[in-house]
Amino acid sequence: MKIAMIGTGYVGLVSGVCFAEFGFQVTCVDKNPAIIERLQAGEVTIYEPGLDELLVRNARDGRLIFTTDLVPTVADADVIFIAVGTPSRRGDGEADLQYIYAAADEIAAAMKPGAVIVIKSTVVVGTNADVRARIAKARPDVQFSMVSNPEFLREGSAVEDFLRPDRVVVGVHDEAGSAAMKRVYRPLYLRETPMIVTTLENAEIIKYAANAYLAMKVTFINEVADLCEKAGGNVQDVARAIGMDNRIGSKFLHAGPGFGGSCFPKDTRAYAATGRKLEAPQTLIEQVVTVNELRKHSMAQRVIEAAQKSGVTTVAVLGIAFKPNTDDIRESPALDIIPALQKAGLTVRAHDPEARGAAEQVLPEVTWYKSAYEAVEGAGITLLLTEWNVYRALDLKRVATLMSGNILFDLRNVYSGTDIEGTGLDYRSVGRPLVGKRG
Ligand SMILES: NC(=O)c1ccc[n+]([C@@H]2O[C@H](COP(=O)([O-])OP(=O)(O)OC[C@H]3O[C@@H](n4cnc5c(N)ncnc54)[C@H](O)[C@@H]3O)[C@@H](O)[C@H]2O)c1
Repeated sequence: MKIAMIGTGYVGLVSGVCFAEFGFQVTCVDKNPAIIERLQAGEVTIYEPGLDELLVRNARDGRLIFTTDLVPTVADADVIFIAVGTPSRRGDGEADLQYIYAAADEIAAAMKPGAVIVIKSTVVVGTNADVRARIAKARPDVQFSMVSNPEFLREGSAVEDFLRPDRVVVGVHDEAGSAAMKRVYRPLYLRETPMIVTTLENAEIIKYAANAYLAMKVTFINEVADLCEKAGGNVQDVARAIGMDNRIGSKFLHAGPGFGGSCFPKDTRAYAATGRKLEAPQTLIEQVVTVNELRKHSMAQRVIEAAQKSGVTTVAVLGIAFKPNTDDIRESPALDIIPALQKAGLTVRAHDPEARGAAEQVLPEVTWYKSAYEAVEGAGITLLLTEWNVYRALDLKRVATLMSGNILFDLRNVYSGTDIEGTGLDYRSVGRPLVGKRG
C-alpha cells in the first residue's frame, strides 16, 4: 500500500514518519520547498522528541520520501492523507479551510481510480462531505472513497501519541474507506488500540468536542486558581483532590497563564463559530474563549503592576513555546504577555531551549540568551512561562544573586515554598499562597 501525506507540518510529518515505521511506502509532500529540502537532507524541521531517529531510519531504508511534486505522488498513491493547516480566519474565528480545498482540488486532478482520500486535519462538521462532493464534481469519471481521520497527537509527545493512541477515530461513508483504514492502522489494531468507525460528521464533531472539553477543563481550573488566591486556598491541593475522582480525572487540571498552542485557541473559536452558524450555541465554549483571552492579559497585568510597584524596568522571561518539548509558539501566552510588558515600558530578556528561532521572528526588541542564568542576569523580575525541564531544577539562590530584583513569577507552579526558602526570592505563583521575601 502506498501512502501520500500532503503537508509536512507537525501532524503530517509525524504521521508520515510513523506510517513508514509501520512498514508502508510513504511519500510526504509539502508545497514549501525549504521544508522539503531540509527533510531530503535528513534534517528534522520541527522539534519533536524521538522523531529524528525514526525519520532518518525510514528514509535510509527507502520507505520514506519527501517531495514538492504532488501530482505524481498522488497519481501513484492508494491512500492520500491531507494534513495541511486549518488556521483561524481573521475576524470571525471560523476555521480557514482554503488549504484543505486547494489540496483537494490538486488531489482530484491527479488521483487514480479507487483512491482513498483522508482528511487528517481538524475540520468543521460538514467539510468532509463538501470535499467529497467537490472532488466528485471535478472527477465524475473516477470512483474514490472519502475518510475523516482526525488526529489527537500532542506536540511534545507526538511520536509516542501516534504510535500508542488512546483510540483511532475514522469517519467513513463506504466499506472501501473503512477497509483501507483498517489496513493502515493494523499495527495499532494488533496492539488492541480501539478503533471507532463512524460517520464523517461524527468524526469531525468528535475532534472539536474533545479539544473544546480539554480547553474548558484548563479554563475551569484557572478560575478555581483565582478563587484560591482570593480565599487563601491552594489550587494544586484542590486539583489533586478533585482529579482523584475518576469521573473528573487528573489531566488538564494545571492552573497557568491560559492555554495557547496551535490547536486549543483556534479550535475553540471554530467550534463556537460552528455552533453559532448552525444555531446550536456552544455557550460554554464561547465563554472559555473569552475567559482565556482575558487571562493572558491579566497575567501580563500582574507582572506590570509588580514592576511598577517595585521600580523594576527589566523582566527575564523563561520559556516562549506554548508548552515544553516543542518549538511551536503559535498562540503561546508569551506572544501576548511579552508585547504587553514592552508596551508598559519594560525591557524583556528571554530564553527558550528550542523556540528562539521561531520567536525571534515575531517578538522584536527582545534580547535572547543561551541559558536561563544568562537571561535572569540584571532582571528585576523573572517570569517563568513554560515548564521546560531545564527550568524545573534551577539553582534559585544563584538566580536570586544574578537578578537585580527578587520577584519570581512562576506561572506554571513549578516550584514550592520549600524550594524558595532561604533564596531571598519574592515568589508568586498561580492559585497558591505567596511565599518568600516581599518588596
Ligand atoms: N499541531 C498539532 O499538535 C495538531 C494536533 C492534532 C491535529 N492538528 C491539526 O492538523 C492540521 C495540521 O496542523 P499542523 O500543526 O501540522 O500544521 P502546520 O502548519 O505545521 O503544517 C501544515 C503544512 O501543510 C503545508 N501545505 C499547505 N497546503 C499544502 C498543499 N496544497 N500541498 C502541500 N503542502 C501544503 C504547509 O506548507 C505546512 O508545511 C490542522 O488542521 C491542525 O488543527 C494539529
